[in-house]
Amino acid sequence: MNKLGKTLAAMIEKSGSISLYDFMKLSLSHPEFGYYSRQEPFGEQGDFITAPEISQMFGELIGLWAVDAWIKLGSPAKFNLVELGPGNGTLMADILRSARVAPAFLAAAQIQLVENSPRLRAKQATSLSDHEVCWHDTFPDLEDMPIILIANEFFDALPIHQYCYQDGVWRERLVSTADNGFAFSLSPETTSLDLVPACADGDILETCPDGEEIIGRLSKLLSVNGGAALIVDYGAADTILGDSFQAVKGHGHVDPLNNPGEADLTAHVKFAILKKIAATQGITIQGPTSQGRFLERLGIEARHHMLRQKADDAQKKKLDAQLRRLTSASEMGTLFKVMALSHNMSASTEGFGS
Ligand SMILES: C[S@@+](CC[C@H](N)C(=O)[O-])C[C@H]1O[C@@H](n2cnc3c(N)ncnc32)[C@H](O)[C@@H]1O
Repeated sequence: MNKLGKTLAAMIEKSGSISLYDFMKLSLSHPEFGYYSRQEPFGEQGDFITAPEISQMFGELIGLWAVDAWIKLGSPAKFNLVELGPGNGTLMADILRSARVAPAFLAAAQIQLVENSPRLRAKQATSLSDHEVCWHDTFPDLEDMPIILIANEFFDALPIHQYCYQDGVWRERLVSTADNGFAFSLSPETTSLDLVPACADGDILETCPDGEEIIGRLSKLLSVNGGAALIVDYGAADTILGDSFQAVKGHGHVDPLNNPGEADLTAHVKFAILKKIAATQGITIQGPTSQGRFLERLGIEARHHMLRQKADDAQKKKLDAQLRRLTSASEMGTLFKVMALSHNMSASTEGFGS
């Protein structure tokens, strides 16, 4: 068992089985042994690759989406440009590069990054060395100004609780020790959940309290100060039932309870629940739509064509593969969804159709 495994096993020995939420939170964010504190997650050499690391086209188009949103907010002289979970800082760097078409946007933007990994903060500092940036461990109480927020593959990295339906009641799924490792168990206590009306034996429900809290606070900020938020992540548009807890290492799936801290743990984002929370604050909601259609509506094909014109044969092949990876239904195009929340805008944000 690795060091984090031993720490978790000792906790369980002392106080009993732990929630999946605690297991996932410590596996990802333990200050010494957590996944984001010690591993190099992104890229071909890492465990998985995210859209901005696949191609500059992704961040450039989102940069233009943000400039358009800023114009529809009345081109405020100051606004908070926030990114949740910026990884290597590639997405924000691409956003700021393409936003050079609107110097007043760049002059107005107060860049706020929400990142709890010191290792990734250092990477972001390098990628964004030409810009003034402010970091936060958690989603901050932002100043009294409009907000434009971007989150790509942030909500899927937040810890979840799982509940299992059996004999007419819900019980929380816990993590216990077993055979020099970990196994799932069920809490003897029942939990009352009114999120879903009718369920069958064996159904699993996942909740993500941290994600729900952030969407609640973000919606409040949008309703008071105005602004727009773009959330890109994987998950179904409507379904909220099902076991989506998973671990990825070296671009393949592994057992999520094995070797904690050594694989990326994620769960599908429940867009239906996030929408419901935003709706209670009177926020305009667009989507979720598929990432493929969103990028096509923003003009990824034209951008791809432009980049191709200056490319040699090997680069052309690479650009074609990048376009496919981002938009094709058999790759990220359909599984990944995009949702926008906005308030106080002169028109809807781009990318969602009429
Ligand atoms: C899957 S990565 C996505 C990186 C980046 N957005 C991209 O598209 O390449 C998740 C990011 O969220 C950060 N993160 C995860 N949980 C967090 C939390 N609870 N608070 C702040 N940042 C968190 C990670 O450190 C990492 O930067």
